[in-house]
Amino acid sequence: MEIKTYLNKQRLVIEDALQQYMLKTDMEHVAFAHHIEAMRYSLFAGGKRIRPILCLAAGQAIGKRPDPDTDLLPIACALECIHTYSLIHDDLPAMDNDDLRRGKPTNHTLFGEAGAILAGDGLLTWTFDLLSNNGQNTLSPGQQLKIIHLIARAAGSLGMVGGQALDIDNENKEFPFETLRVIHRSKTGALITASILAGAIAAGADQTQQEALSRYGEQIGLAFQIVDDLLNVTGTTEQLGKTAGSDATRGKATYPAFFGIDATRQKARTAVEEAQKALGLFDEKADPLRAIAQYIHTRSH
Ligand code: IPE
Ligand code: IPE
Ligand code: MG
Ligand code: MG
Repeated sequence: MEIKTYLNKQRLVIEDALQQYMLKTDMEHVAFAHHIEAMRYSLFAGGKRIRPILCLAAGQAIGKRPDPDTDLLPIACALECIHTYSLIHDDLPAMDNDDLRRGKPTNHTLFGEAGAILAGDGLLTWTFDLLSNNGQNTLSPGQQLKIIHLIARAAGSLGMVGGQALDIDNENKEFPFETLRVIHRSKTGALITASILAGAIAAGADQTQQEALSRYGEQIGLAFQIVDDLLNVTGTTEQLGKTAGSDATRGKATYPAFFGIDATRQKARTAVEEAQKALGLFDEKADPLRAIAQYIHTRSH
């Protein structure tokens, strides 16, 4: 399969759905227009949309699903809202203090720190509004509750937020490799795995399928953050749309800092191979997941 064409097509599906599901600065919400504008600024600033695309691809892997999958689209959009909020807060002066994101000025440089904090809060809360708004979907209340729970768990203190806290606490410190594994698994891996499982559960995956996809998610989540670390060293600011070299400047814990570039590349390759193995029990409907794993390894931004 041609991964670039596939990703471009899926990205457009997600962009359309985000336009449909995100709050608008229309007459109805005019009092909150500036706040909604701040949320929309970062949400529509670009981005690879890899988490929502994984959610759709996991649904496709499980069985015959409509394309685009109207049951999955609000869930996919909710995942992108959480991710975008995490980036807005990650860039704040109190955190990574970055002024470039997705090739544009960061949220707080335009809307101020308070505006950016609130834009993040708004996106995080909108996530759960979207997830719990039953709309037209055909999911059972049980499926819906399970999905909400797994996304909440992955985004919170035992997942992404916890990982961000550990990442910040360990700036400019020496610590064992095991801590780095925990940071990567929680700050990045947890939401990626949840994106895949949410799609799979909505599509009716059984326990064995969920376990296999969970192993796939853990490995591509790891590969994704390893490659993010690598690109921070080897990429340019222009290519990345965010400041290259910032991890070293801030004394961040990264794979290249631990192992050097070559061994880090090898670790990303191994993780992707493990991810492919985890898909062993799936047929060709999982080919998009296979192609995405390969893409994560070779991506340049
Ligand atoms: C960046 O995520 C932050 C990490 C968790 C590594 P992405 O690389 O998915 O960022 P966008 O959404 O494409 O901007
Ligand atoms: C971001 O990690 C992870 C989250 C926002 C959860 P990084 O700080 O390493 O990512 P970039 O390099 O700023 O995108
Ligand atoms: Mg960070
Ligand atoms: Mg950062």
